[in-house]
Amino acid sequence: MSNRGNFSSRIGFILAAAGSAVGLGNIWRFPYLAGTNGGAGFLLIYLICIFTLCFPVMVGEIAIGRKAGSDAYGSYKKLGGGTWGYLGLYGILAGVLILSYYNVVAGWAFGYFLEITFGNLLNHADFGSFFGEYVNSIGPIFMFSFGFMVITAIIVSQGIAKGIEAANKIMMPGLYLILIGLIIYSLTLPNASAGVEFYLVPKLDQITSKTIFYALCQAFFSLSLGMGCLITYGSYVTKDQNIVKSAAIISIADTSVAFLAGLMVFPLVFSLGAEPGQGPKLIFVILTQAFQSMGPVVGRIVGGSFFLLICFAALTSTISLLEVPAAYFVDQKKLPRKAVVWGMSGLIFVLGLPSMFSQGVVPFLNKLPLHNAPDFLSFVSDLCDIMLITGGCLMCLFIRYKWKINNMNEELEIGNTGYVQSWLSKYLTFAITWVCPILLGILSVLVITDKYFGLEWLFGAA
Ligand code: PFF
Repeated sequence: MSNRGNFSSRIGFILAAAGSAVGLGNIWRFPYLAGTNGGAGFLLIYLICIFTLCFPVMVGEIAIGRKAGSDAYGSYKKLGGGTWGYLGLYGILAGVLILSYYNVVAGWAFGYFLEITFGNLLNHADFGSFFGEYVNSIGPIFMFSFGFMVITAIIVSQGIAKGIEAANKIMMPGLYLILIGLIIYSLTLPNASAGVEFYLVPKLDQITSKTIFYALCQAFFSLSLGMGCLITYGSYVTKDQNIVKSAAIISIADTSVAFLAGLMVFPLVFSLGAEPGQGPKLIFVILTQAFQSMGPVVGRIVGGSFFLLICFAALTSTISLLEVPAAYFVDQKKLPRKAVVWGMSGLIFVLGLPSMFSQGVVPFLNKLPLHNAPDFLSFVSDLCDIMLITGGCLMCLFIRYKWKINNMNEELEIGNTGYVQSWLSKYLTFAITWVCPILLGILSVLVITDKYFGLEWLFGAA
């Protein structure tokens, strides 16, 4: 195992896994999903999902990875035998698909960083229509996404400790600082309290099956669960580390960034008299408007730094997304890391092109002939969400029926003496044997039959 590389320290693993977790999901997707799904009700369900469903799945994934010491495919195969390896491949496929569209959105954020810092983006009058034009300006978006993929590939080709750990140590503290600064600013604006109320005071009648589904998917996506990312990262964790504690720190770090992002966005939305449910363009529109109101110099500096930090956050996530298929080919096919990384990045970039062209330039990709006519990017993103929750459900079934919960607990005891007797071990055992597989299984079936077979029990007609 020694030639696979390990994280050099406990903090190295935590930073890398938190870096994977914290990304566009927290700052771009969480606020817009909260905005379209009732605000505080969404936040409440999201937090419940993190605690009851996601935390146990995270612990399970890291335990599998560390025990088997291999990539997602190799780990399932090693602990469960031949056919379970396919579950690892399913996760790897989800990772490839996520990265294909994630890289496009990262390209948007990178473009905003450049346009705010060096261009005249903040001079525009209508940021909504600017966003629409921007994501359809194919030349720049192509270049920025391409650049993003190249930077990801350079870091991943350096290997686990050097590239991945180093990138995270700079990004995480910077991101917290700028978020807190912007929250303080947004809370001082007129009518900010309406935003705080929207975000923090739940109205129970607004919680629907759709809220629950989106909150759960967002929680899985945000914590990078259900696709073997944490199995892969877990395989680089040394035996002296306390997995449960690390998982708790990672979950808290990730959830706090999402929470803070919401606390920054909604006071701004309400003080600007904007609409919280405007979907994926929310932060691109609202934040640029806020930066504009800070004046030409301060707006440029604060706005530029903010989008730069989003890019860093996205980068530590794209790194982890690329690491999952890369580890598979390096471990299983014994291919050289550099060749695998560059080959995979090229392939994934090409796979992302339909998402890139789906915002209006190619009408067919903008309205697919499917239920509710999604654009290609949303279609892939929905599909991946479903893959993550089904992946999480199958992982629990794997632990329960194949690897066995006692073996998982034994692995968790390593580096955490006394764990097996603790109440936390009883809770996690119960969650992985009963709560997670049942709830995730039911939701997976409901959502698949709804989205792809038109049964309309969750979302209703368009
Ligand atoms: N968790 C990342 C985010 O919130 O932006 C996205 C992600 C990264 C999902 C890695 C899945 C993954 F394996």
